[in-house]
Amino acid sequence: MLERIGISIPEELLSAFDEYIKKHKYEARSEAVRDMIRQTLLNERVEQDDENAIGVLVIIYDHEKRDISSKLIHHQHEHVNFILSTLHIHLDKHNCLELIVLKGLIKDINEIADEIISSKGVVFGQLVKSGI
Ligand code: NI
Repeated sequence: MLERIGISIPEELLSAFDEYIKKHKYEARSEAVRDMIRQTLLNERVEQDDENAIGVLVIIYDHEKRDISSKLIHHQHEHVNFILSTLHIHLDKHNCLELIVLKGLIKDINEIADEIISSKGVVFGQLVKSGI
């Protein structure tokens, strides 16, 4: 069930918002406002250590750096109960991109991601979390 609300908003802010929704291809303000509310609530939730979440960890590393491949595989086997899936893409002669999908308590997901991202040879690492 949908509820209607009315809000007052300064003209300049509304005009900036309208530019934003046009740029991001929203058809109507309502869906953009709903998405912003959802995102704000989600951002707060994924800061709570004891909530469950799904995390997608993206890393890039040079597989020729000493021991990096076996260390990353070791980390993943250590945390096998949290890892749902891993996708490995050979980007070029040296670089590999890996997507690691994690599920569990946010504090555990953060810890595993930190361990992997801080491994020597990982040149990029970013964790995206979402509630489940
Ligand atoms: Ni590779």
